[in-house]
Amino acid sequence: MSPTLHLPGLVDVHTHLRVPGGEHKEDFASGTAAALAGGFTQILAMPNTSPPLATLDVLLATRAVASQTVRCDVGLYAGASPQHTDELPALANHAAALKIYLNDTFGPLRAEDLPTLHACFRLWPRSKMIALHAEGQSVAVGIGLAAAYRRPVHFCHISRRDEIELIAAAKAAGLPVTCEVTPHHLFLTDRDAARLGPLGDMRPRLATQDDQDALWAHLASTVDCIATDHAPHTLAEKASANPPPGIAGLETSLPLMLTAMQQGRLSLDRLVELMASNPRRIFGLPSQPDTFIEIDPQARTTIANERLLTRCGWTPFAGMVVQGLVRRVILRGRLVYDVDRPEALAPPGAGRLI
Ligand code: NCD
Ligand code: ZN
Repeated sequence: MSPTLHLPGLVDVHTHLRVPGGEHKEDFASGTAAALAGGFTQILAMPNTSPPLATLDVLLATRAVASQTVRCDVGLYAGASPQHTDELPALANHAAALKIYLNDTFGPLRAEDLPTLHACFRLWPRSKMIALHAEGQSVAVGIGLAAAYRRPVHFCHISRRDEIELIAAAKAAGLPVTCEVTPHHLFLTDRDAARLGPLGDMRPRLATQDDQDALWAHLASTVDCIATDHAPHTLAEKASANPPPGIAGLETSLPLMLTAMQQGRLSLDRLVELMASNPRRIFGLPSQPDTFIEIDPQARTTIANERLLTRCGWTPFAGMVVQGLVRRVILRGRLVYDVDRPEALAPPGAGRLI
């Protein structure tokens, strides 16, 4: 028997739970089951749903579904949309944060014109985060907005050397910016994309070895959070003529980062900062008393599609040997996940809406 490690419940500020409109890929019950299996007890769900969480009626209806069906604690992002900037103050009362898509990705939700960006930064409360999907020079746009409005901005899934170096420069200049990186950008490159085809396609796309080296080099300093960008699509959709970008990540992120820890690439303390304390602090999320996860850091497992709880049922990491297994998850004193006892999984509704 190897020793058990107790860690805080992990926090993921970037998951796609596909409600409403994409429940065949994931819903709140399946996505939060995957979250618990991956060691996450608190997650934020993205607004690029169908219809998007960009109007008060859709956000409130989705909150009603979530409150009945989540197994861990979930907050919802509101999405910025040029047609609905007048709803931003009302959306802010019911959302954990605002997401602005400056670049092309899955779904039509986009806000890149200056009037919309001004409205977002004027109307969204300073106490709640604005998160940006910004690639390439859009990172400079986001830094400019953070500077002009003197308010915090969080950059999602930073993946390129130029981007992380620009964020490092912004931080050195004292600007209130934070950023996340994903395990897939830390573990896969454009060479894997060539091997994986549509199963290795996501936004931002997998990058070069040099880009990946830069992310690892900044992991001890510039990077604030690891986020999964859990973006499930079905294998049938991935095999179609027009495959959507995105891959699942909730169940593989911690094993991958624990493997990196065993390889000496980061410390356990840093892992907990990146996957629990920093995301909670940066997004101002509530603490979760009597909540922790039990890890077997020595256990070696082979990632297998058959064992996943996400509805999409596949990961590009299938077949990879990782070191570090989530054994049990305790949420507010209650057992909500046990790797050896599927019946211990918390029922839908056991989680709280943030
Ligand atoms: C995401 C999705 O499928 O919703 N896809 C992706 O490739 N990451 C959208 C996004 O986060 O950009
Ligand atoms: Zn995403």
